[in-house]
Amino acid sequence: MSGPGRVTLAMTGASGVQYGLRLLDCLVQEEREVHFLISKAAQLVVATETDVSLPAKPQAMQAFLTEYTGATPGQIRVFGKEDWLAPPASGSGAPSAMVVVPCSTGTLSAIATGACNNLIERAADVALKERRQLILVPREAPFSSIHLENMLKLSNLGAVILPASPGFYQQPQSIDDLVDFVVARILNQLGIPQDMLPRWGEHHLVSNEDE
Ligand SMILES: Cc1cc2nc3c(=O)[nH]c(=O)nc-3n(C[C@H](O)[C@H](O)[C@H](O)COP(=O)(O)O)c2cc1C
Repeated sequence: MSGPGRVTLAMTGASGVQYGLRLLDCLVQEEREVHFLISKAAQLVVATETDVSLPAKPQAMQAFLTEYTGATPGQIRVFGKEDWLAPPASGSGAPSAMVVVPCSTGTLSAIATGACNNLIERAADVALKERRQLILVPREAPFSSIHLENMLKLSNLGAVILPASPGFYQQPQSIDDLVDFVVARILNQLGIPQDMLPRWGEHHLVSNEDE
């Protein structure tokens, strides 16, 4: 298996919750264990941007997401925002990569300052201090100097800033294609196989072979 066996996936209240839900789906299909965290604001965005009726309580949400993605029992674990005994809350917990997608500018700021006021912020803080993979997918337009400074600070600390800005060179035909563009980039970062987006140069090699 290439890439991490376990991923902490946090969804926060920026637009683009589709990216987080699709990543969850892909991680399940690739047989990864997922520790799923979601902020209150992200739940509101899910209700606003999708038809998904996500239950509010962690246990009910876990059962719902397990069925929604076709995960095996126990493959997805959902933890509440003050579940300080959850594995992602401590550096001594089993290591995992962490992705915050979408990442609100509020959570970006909290991670940049080490606030640790909820489990998402704490888990990201743990990822930074343990030098583990941390991928942040911010979405805002335009960015203020505060956002940009926070991103630079986190990038210098080793986090990957992967903005939710799909490219168009694959000639997307649908919103799903745009979502997959960003999710494929996240999976590439994690080293998890994906066939949604050819890696740059692969098309070129094929067309050269055709000549
Ligand atoms: C429908 C909706 C869309 C939002 N879009 C964004 C966004 O694109 N980027 C952002 O940084 N915040 C956005 N917000 C505001 C955040 O949700 C808000 O700042 C919240 O406090 C973030 O909390 P969290 O980081 O705990 O999720 C949006 C809120 C709503 C309700």
